[in-house]
Amino acid sequence: MKAVTMLFRTSLILSCIMLFAHPLAAQEGKKKVSKNPHAVVTKEANTIDELVDILDEKKCAECHPEIYKEWKESWHAKSVTSPGSIKGIHNFLAIGLPKEWKKPITKAEVMKCYDCHAPVIQYASEKLAVEIAEKVITAHKEKDKPAGKKAEKELSKLNVGCVSCHNLKATSVARGLRGAPKKGAIYGPTGADSDGAHETIKTVDITRSVMCMQCHGKYKAPDGETIQCNTLSGSFQNAYQSNGGTETCQDCHMEKNSKTGKKSHLMPGGHDLDMVKKGLGLKVNFAQYRHLPGKIKGVKNDKAWVPSAVVTAFVENKAGHRIPDG
Ligand code: HEC
Ligand code: HEC
Ligand code: HEC
Ligand code: HEC
Ligand code: HEC
Repeated sequence: MKAVTMLFRTSLILSCIMLFAHPLAAQEGKKKVSKNPHAVVTKEANTIDELVDILDEKKCAECHPEIYKEWKESWHAKSVTSPGSIKGIHNFLAIGLPKEWKKPITKAEVMKCYDCHAPVIQYASEKLAVEIAEKVITAHKEKDKPAGKKAEKELSKLNVGCVSCHNLKATSVARGLRGAPKKGAIYGPTGADSDGAHETIKTVDITRSVMCMQCHGKYKAPDGETIQCNTLSGSFQNAYQSNGGTETCQDCHMEKNSKTGKKSHLMPGGHDLDMVKKGLGLKVNFAQYRHLPGKIKGVKNDKAWVPSAVVTAFVENKAGHRIPDG
């Protein structure tokens, strides 16, 4: 009962805040101030190309070619167009929303998937966000046909790219403390001087597991709905860290590339056989013994002791969380 009263009170307080906040927001709207309080850009994109231009990621490859190559092969580069994502997000947009929840496709609903699968969509106009959703539906329904291929090609420009991690999601693990990410700045582990290519801001957050957990965990939508697409962070905290595990996601998934000496951006996981092998420990125990004569039927000589063994195999999970995930 107490909790219910508290909730009621909170909602009363909230509606008060909303009442006061509303006229202000309207004024801001007139001044063309972005509605997104965390926005680093003030202009909303109306096409996918405009959206991609905001990030200007093409130039990253010029100076960081090895990291770009690794990233391009990683699952982060196909977080919108991997066959699993297209199908799953299509099901949410074309079946879940209209049929199960009877809701229209809006940007707020689209962000329930893309805040993690392609965070840049936060800068899309309402119209573009809905268009992106329609492209996902076409890409799935018209798979292998010209219209589907065209939609998929457009969508493949969106992903979890350099700026997603090095700017958009770089301060959100401690937004209250760090504020919104600074426009155009690159957040990195050392703040290395880039000879004027970009402002670099040193942040310890990017070296911590929470950096990854904000996407490999739960998303709380502004309307209160919680989306959990994978359970990995839960088992990392509850089964790995609480049992004394001390390695971070980066320690295991971003080992240094031996050629470049830089942290690898391949980020292998369950699709990588070597990584899967690393995650599995096999311990086999043999216990030898002999059966008493006459106890086992059908052996060659049932008057003699029969050599036997008990084999016990232990499959150990050496990953920092439950496997497989999903
Ligand atoms: C909190 C961040 C987050 C949100 C929100 C989110 N996802 Fe995901 N999603 C992930 C991550 C991280 C993975 C990769 C999980 C893994 O491999 O363990 C993933 C994987 C998937 C996969 C499997 C992809 C594959 O290649 O097999 C599907 C399907 C999927 N998500 C659908 C959705 C849908 C539909 C929504 C919206 C309703 C959504 N996701 C919202 C983070 C998120
Ligand atoms: C004109 C060259 C140039 C371009 C373009 C460029 N960088 Fe850099 N960047 C550098 C140099 C030089 C350094 C310092 C040496 C190093 O760490 O590689 C650096 C360092 C970094 C670091 C490490 C920062 C740290 O704290 O250790 C990150 C992360 C980074 N760049 C990301 C990016 C991203 C993302 C882009 C594209 C938006 C980009 N860079 C574009 C030259 C460039
Ligand atoms: C902006 C959100 C986001 C952030 C931040 C993020 N990831 Fe991911 N990651 C994803 C999504 C989405 C996928 C799934 C792509 C797909 O399958 O379509 C994924 C896939 C992966 C995979 C591949 C899984 C497989 O099935 O093989 C690994 C490993 C991974 N991420 C590790 C990390 C690590 C380590 C970090 C932190 C350094 C991190 N991720 C940060 C969103 C994110
Ligand atoms: C999924 C998140 C993610 C994506 C995507 C990503 N990075 Fe990083 N990057 C990191 C993290 C985390 C670190 C720091 C790891 C550490 O030091 O523990 C890092 C480190 C770096 C460094 C410093 C490496 C070193 O060892 O000195 C550079 C340079 C860099 N990233 C550039 C890029 C570029 C360029 C891209 C796009 C091609 C990119 N990153 C995409 C998460 C990401
Ligand atoms: C002690 C090392 C270790 C730590 C710590 C660790 N991982 Fe893993 N992770 C692994 C190994 C090994 C695998 C491959 C095992 C498998 O998928 O069968 C793996 C698999 C994955 C996968 C693919 C899962 C699947 O089912 O395909 C994702 C995504 C992932 N890790 C993300 C993370 C994130 C995010 C963190 C931090 C919250 C993290 N890992 C911490 C070792 C680790």
